[in-house]
Order: sequence, then structure tokens, then C-alpha cells
Amino acid sequence: MDYQRFFEDAVDELRRERRYRTFAEIERDAARFPHAVWHRPEGARDIVIWCSNDYLGMGCHDDVVEAMCATARQAGAGAGGTRNISGNSHAVVELERELADLHGKEAGLVFTSGYISNQTGISTLARLIPDCLVLSDALNHNSMIEGVRQAGRDKQIFRHNDLAHLEELLKAAGGRPKLVVFESVYSMDGDVAPIGAICDLAERYGAMTYLDEVHAVGMYGARGGGIAERDGVMHRVDVIEGTLGKAFGVVGGYITGRASVIDAVRSYAPGFIFTTALPPAVAAAAAASVRHLKASGAERARQHAQVAKVKRALEAAGLPQLATSTHIVPVMVGDATACKAASDLLLEEHGIYIQPINYPTVPRGTERLRITPGPFHDDALVAQLARALVDVWSRLGLPFESRAEAAE
Ligand SMILES: Cc1ncc(COP(=O)(O)O)c(C=O)c1O
Repeated sequence: MDYQRFFEDAVDELRRERRYRTFAEIERDAARFPHAVWHRPEGARDIVIWCSNDYLGMGCHDDVVEAMCATARQAGAGAGGTRNISGNSHAVVELERELADLHGKEAGLVFTSGYISNQTGISTLARLIPDCLVLSDALNHNSMIEGVRQAGRDKQIFRHNDLAHLEELLKAAGGRPKLVVFESVYSMDGDVAPIGAICDLAERYGAMTYLDEVHAVGMYGARGGGIAERDGVMHRVDVIEGTLGKAFGVVGGYITGRASVIDAVRSYAPGFIFTTALPPAVAAAAAASVRHLKASGAERARQHAQVAKVKRALEAAGLPQLATSTHIVPVMVGDATACKAASDLLLEEHGIYIQPINYPTVPRGTERLRITPGPFHDDALVAQLARALVDVWSRLGLPFESRAEAAE
């Protein structure tokens, strides 16, 4: 049996479908973020990152880096094992208190990533609720889909952000227990869920709610609690999940909710029980970041200002951006090869790094460049980005908004 051949064939299949992924080798420079060094075969080159999910640059913040270094020096590098075997590190317990407080909940539980928190959190909750029907938004992230799948419970998918469809499914389910799982900011289209209205329905039909705020925590709400905080509905959501790896700039994930719910997940979730805990240094860095963003709105304000400037610059240049009300700026290409070519040209010719987003992350025909402006993209960088995109669009013959409309 030629086992190697199976793997080669599997990868060739991706190449044939034009969805084989390559990653740029980037070395971030904490003192100059979003500037970085690109290690290419011909040698190193200075570039600007425009696609980072370290949305606020907190991964390079002095308090965060210092908390990580100081805690590692004091407590060592690793966690020493699973929490079941080695106990809770003080830093993780403090982090969980910060997170529960951030979301106004009784308790929090930290996992090694946002992916794991969704996968093991959703599957454990749904399995513990007898005869649970899971209602899941059609555009939920893969980690939530896996959580729903692993629960092995009945599931129904409601059309994206479609309240009427959700209500129809809730009503049809009758009196059985129900769990509604959804996100606040959807990361590829940058649109926002009507959280309050979903809570209205959940209350009316006796459902529990689970909200992924991965692309909102740190960035929305007076203390960075996310869209639910901004909308004044945080207290109405049963479980709020988030990541420590994006706007908080470190790594890890968590859920927050009622103490009984969190204790049940802690006690039953395999993705929590059977894996090494977050190292204390990571937990301390994440806690420093959460603490900072609770008290400081400066990063959020500056991010929102620079996002608005990027949107205006792209609009003025006639580039086909998807309108969003968030910090996510998708520029539509609509073809996998062209999307990769645009990304390559931006990097090679302009020193601008924006990873192409192709199927299966987004549906075929909606391939895009996903731009995430942050507080450290100054006005000169915004102008440079717009110029570079116009150049690449022209060279590849990609349609501009105004030109496309004129041709119709
Ligand atoms: C909506 C959503 N939830 C969860 C995750 C997983 O979070 P993490 O990167 O911390 O594993 C992602 C990751 O990109 C995401 O987009």
C-alpha cells in the first residue's frame, strides 16, 4: 500500500480546486507593530500587516508583554499539566475572575483556545440538557459547528441572522429544551447579530442562549465586553464565549455564565479535562490585556477612527468593499486565483500583507481580501494601502465599483 500517495493525492486535489493554502513567513516586531519582517526565499523584507486579528495590537502592549515575562520568570514556562492533575494556577483563577467580571457573569472558565471553548463548551452543554434541540446560525464558525456535531443532539440551522426563521423553528420545537448558538460579529462579512431580538425569542420560547463574541471582545462596549455589552443585553445571554487570542492579543479561549453552568462544563467537558492548562505566563498576559481594555477606551476609539478612514479611502478609490458596521473590511474579488494573485502582488510589490480568503472559509465566488485596520495603522499607511490596492486592481484587471456600475 502506498500510504504516502494518499496524502499527496489529497493535497493535489486542493491544488486542482485552487484552494491549496500557502502562508507567508512573518516575524512581528513588537516595537513597530503593524510593521513586520517577511522572510522570503530571496531574503528578508519590511512589510505592513493589514490582516491581523491582534485587532488592537495588544499582543505588543508593554503591560501585556511585561506580565508574560515577569510571570514566566516567577512561575516558569509551562502549566505543569491538566488542571485535574496539577491544580489551578493562581494566574488562571485571576484571569477567570476578570473574564466573569467583564461579562457581568457569576463565573468564567478558560480553555486553551477559542476553538476548544466552542467545541467542548457547546457539545458538553447540549449533551447535559436532556433531549436538547440545538438551533445554530447558518454562518456559525467551524468550532461551533463541531461543538454542535459532537453533541450528537438534534440540530436545526436557522438562516443567518433571520429572526423569523429562528422563531418558526423555536415555535415548531414546542416545549422541549432548546439551545440557540450564534455569534455577535461574523468574521468574514463583518455583520452583527440582533442579540437583543434573539434573546427576546429565546425567552419567549424557553431556550438557552450561547453567544460567541470572539470578534467583538475588547473592541465593543464601554469596557470591551463585546456587542452584547454595547447593546446593553449582556445580562440576557446565558453563556458568552470569547477568545484571548484576537483583540486581547495573547492566546486561549473562555466561556462565562452562571456558576452552575460553568461548573458543569468544568466537570464534564473533555476538551477542558484532558488537556494541559494555559501556562500562568499566558494567563497573566491575557489578564493584563483584559484589565487594560476594561479601563482604557483609547485603543477602541483609535481603531474605530482608522477603520472609518480605510472605508472612506477604499470607497473614494472605487474598490469593491462589502459594507460593514464593524472593524472588518472585506474587499471582494470573487475568484480564488485572482484573490491569491492580488494578495501576492500586494506583498511582493507593495510590502502589504493581506492573506487571501478563499473557499471553504467563504463560499466559492465570494473570495476576498479581509482587511482589519487597527489603532496603529496611521493615516500614511491608510493612504499607502488604498494606492496599492488600486494598482493591484488595475494590473489584474479586477472590476472597480464605479467602473463596474458604469459598464452595466
Ligand atoms: C467566530 C470564531 N469563533 C471561535 C474562533 C476560534 O478562536 P481561537 O482562534 O481562539 O481558537 C474563531 C477563530 O478564528 C472564530 O472566528
